[in-house]
Amino acid sequence: VNSKATVTGTFVLSVFTAVLGSLEFGYNIGVINAPQKMIEQDYNATWLQRYGEPIPSGTLTSLWSLSVAIFSIGGMLSAFCLGFVSEWLGRRKAMLINNLFAFIGGSLMALSKLCRSFEMMILGRFIIGAYCGLASGLTPMYVGEIAPTSLRGALGTLHQLAIVTGILIAQILGLEVLLGSQELWPVLLGLTVVPTVLQMSFLPFCPESPRFLYIVRCQEHQAKRGEQEVGDMLAEMKEEKRKMEMERKVSILELFRSPLYRQPIIISILLQLSQQLSGINAIFYYSTSIFIKAGVQSPVYATIGAGVINCAFTVVSLFLIERMGRRTLHMLGLGGMCICAVIMTMALALLDSVPWMSYICMLSIFGFVAFFEVGPGPIPWFFVAELFSQGPRPAAMAVAGFSNWTANFIIGMGFQYVADLCGPYVFLIFAVLLLFFLIFTFFRVPETRGKTFDQIAANFNERSVGGMMDMDMDMDLDKPSTELDYLGEESIN
Ligand SMILES: *[C@@H]1O[C@H](CO)[C@@H](O)[C@H](O)[C@H]1NC(C)=O
Repeated sequence: VNSKATVTGTFVLSVFTAVLGSLEFGYNIGVINAPQKMIEQDYNATWLQRYGEPIPSGTLTSLWSLSVAIFSIGGMLSAFCLGFVSEWLGRRKAMLINNLFAFIGGSLMALSKLCRSFEMMILGRFIIGAYCGLASGLTPMYVGEIAPTSLRGALGTLHQLAIVTGILIAQILGLEVLLGSQELWPVLLGLTVVPTVLQMSFLPFCPESPRFLYIVRCQEHQAKRGEQEVGDMLAEMKEEKRKMEMERKVSILELFRSPLYRQPIIISILLQLSQQLSGINAIFYYSTSIFIKAGVQSPVYATIGAGVINCAFTVVSLFLIERMGRRTLHMLGLGGMCICAVIMTMALALLDSVPWMSYICMLSIFGFVAFFEVGPGPIPWFFVAELFSQGPRPAAMAVAGFSNWTANFIIGMGFQYVADLCGPYVFLIFAVLLLFFLIFTFFRVPETRGKTFDQIAANFNERSVGGMMDMDMDMDLDKPSTELDYLGEESIN
């Protein structure tokens, strides 16, 4: 059998359709950045009309922060349901039904100005967040499952690429001359239904994931249908199924209880936190207002500049990830971000006395974004999948997703307050956090590139048996590992 998979039209359509979900996820991360001032003015006008007085500025900050951050609450809740929904409905039907959320959420946001209701806007953000929580899990899952092995790595990165492209599109459309104006911002927010409609109309022509049909639903015939080169794939799926049957499903509670999983789950959670608490979303949600504070002349274009750099470095990291190790890249990214955050703080603090510091500030934000995409952006997601085998993986992914969205919420909700409180020194907080995560990664995170799961697990086991809290971090994964090591207590049954 020819191992080079033939790429059919249906396959391309399926990948494209699925990735529209990631695009929409990115769009909704980036979209509220540019029109912040306009929307705030409308909140103010609504308040004035309802209560006969201008909105107190504290209330406005709360309402705006809530509008930004409630998105993550939606995402947190739905990300938690991902495992259940994707098994119950199947990947394809789950994506189809998920689109209803996007449709309702987008419409609520688009109509909120017309109806003079910030409640609608906030509810809309919540619902679109719920869509994004599911989409951010379903897309990589579906694409990974329909992709032939030889293309899986490359196609997997399309998810991240589509997210950053979505952010960039939102930033460009958010220009005041396009849709970021006082009259048109509802259109900007409502445009999120366009990929939804596209996805809904294409999905009926996409096949259900053969892996889902075979492994979860045990339908060999269905799985074979619609797939030409099933020979390889079926053998592989059989192997996967056999492995799954060997391993018991692990619950979330067990993940924390069993010494076998405790180390990897702590690492997974901290990696997710390092992604969100690095302060990157403070940039994506609030860069325009940061640039205004920094005295950059055209803040919206600077935001777009950050979006372009974001895209470019995502592509760069796609090439780096398989060459350099994940651990190295993650540390490089964290270290770079930390330095940029310090420079940014100094530039903001010196702004009054040295006018050209606004350029330094802008450049350091660009550097911050670039280093993010080198490591902390893409790596935490697939690292979780690499640390856990089939049995504990779904529970681990749920825990990781939950921590990610929780941290995302904390930043979305808290940043504006803390920024008002600390002024130019707000990014020092992120610098300290970044330094902490850098040190943690150095001492605790193993390299997984080119290692089989058995080798990774063996390393954790060795350490959990021989003094887990022992600070000499012997990351030597190349030691030959006996199979007994890895199977540990589970091999008894
Ligand atoms: C709200 O609008 C009023 C009048 O249009 C204005 O004076 C006030 O500064 C605005 N408040 C805020 C917090 O923007």
